[in-house]
Amino acid sequence: MQLVFASNNKNKIKEIQQLLPETIQILSLEEIGCHEEIPETADTIEGNAILKANYVTTNYGYDCFADDTGLEVEALNGAPGVDSAHYAGEQRSSEDNMNKLLQALSSKTNKNAQFKTVIALNLNNTQTLFTGIAKGQITSEKTGNQGFGYDPIFKLEGHSKTFAELSMEEKSIISHRGKATKQLINFLK
Ligand code: IMP
Repeated sequence: MQLVFASNNKNKIKEIQQLLPETIQILSLEEIGCHEEIPETADTIEGNAILKANYVTTNYGYDCFADDTGLEVEALNGAPGVDSAHYAGEQRSSEDNMNKLLQALSSKTNKNAQFKTVIALNLNNTQTLFTGIAKGQITSEKTGNQGFGYDPIFKLEGHSKTFAELSMEEKSIISHRGKATKQLINFLK
């Protein structure tokens, strides 16, 4: 069975391929000749995962899955959410995004936040969604230099380290993306 992962991130593709039986071959966007930017214009995380998966199935005829992730902050009514990548502007800078979020929360006592990953799978004309959530708090300063995005300012509930102080292996066991991916893999197996 061939299944497209609507991504060109070679690490993500390799990681998932290794967790699946050999009978399932994961193809990247590049491998199916999809070189254009897929629109991510929905106003929810779920909506964007669905848009991306449907784009590939509709235009290229493949079964496909796509993921989308956002950081939802309680005191900001769920922002930055679907806008996480470009919260502080189109330069898509993690430093700028973190600085804007720290500033927005500086006068708030409620620092609760969650990362949410949604994976949309189109398989045999049926769509299934998988959701992984990591609940925690936004810290008051950046700590750690691993990971990416908002990792230096996010601590998982009950943990003393930020995501940026964990190794990739440690993070992937407990992260939103890890949880959603595990559900997808169990479903495909
Ligand atoms: P994407 O949907 O995976 O591209 O994620 C959208 C944005 O959310 C990224 O540009 C990051 O700013 C943020 N993000 C996603 N996953 C993580 C994570 O695991 N740690 C920190 N930030 C993340």
